[in-house]
Amino acid sequence: MFEDRVPHHVAITPDGNGRWAQRRGLPRSEGHRRGARALQDVIGGALGLGVRFLSLHAFSTENWKRPASEVADLMDVYADYLAAHRTYFQNQGVRVRLLGSRHRIPDRLVREIETAEQVTRSNDRLTFVMCVDYGGRSDLLRAVDRIAEDARNGTLPDAPLDERTFARYLNRFDLPDVDLLLRSGGETRTSNFYLWQTAFSELAFLDKPWPDVTAEDLRQAVSRYASRERTLGGLGRQGR
Ligand code: IPE
Ligand code: MG
Repeated sequence: MFEDRVPHHVAITPDGNGRWAQRRGLPRSEGHRRGARALQDVIGGALGLGVRFLSLHAFSTENWKRPASEVADLMDVYADYLAAHRTYFQNQGVRVRLLGSRHRIPDRLVREIETAEQVTRSNDRLTFVMCVDYGGRSDLLRAVDRIAEDARNGTLPDAPLDERTFARYLNRFDLPDVDLLLRSGGETRTSNFYLWQTAFSELAFLDKPWPDVTAEDLRQAVSRYASRERTLGGLGRQGR
């Protein structure tokens, strides 16, 4: 059993929704809808396993390159998903948080996210971090901007900057490093998701498209993660 080796923070890049739909002669939007069902199953799985943070790269800074209609479909799917599961989150102790810049996201999704954030703010069993209009590089750049600003106004903590201080500028809330990064859809890239936060992550790539991913796939990935950890012997989670 691996209960004592469950990753604290699992980050997911859902991929393959479009191909899942196209293979069935369905519109890509249907793939995204089915992807939301997979998300719900995986969140249930994460709760069962005792994962404390689950991040989803729901919409990347690069995803704006898609046709406007597909962008709108994806945003609608997420807004519907949050509206439909707010009570579930509340009952299960899930805290919802948005990571990414809010101002380009459609109003309705911002409203749903902010309502979910508000309603679930005292939950702490599992933090579900929805990364929307999120990119690892832009995240790093914004942190550097904030550091430069504090350097200008004289409030930067002592130089040289250390990792802990940098991480505080980077993460607007207490976001732990990613232990396990999971990507579906057969591609073996991390595609500008968390960059700083995945420095020591284990990577798991699933061939199946996101709509086919289940809680059981998460359980198996966590089980593999746990056995890999064991082969690290005494080196510990961060490879030090
Ligand atoms: C992931 O699936 C959807 C997002 C979260 C952006 P894709 O839409 O990228 O699916 P494929 O890669 O075209 O199959
Ligand atoms: Mg894709």
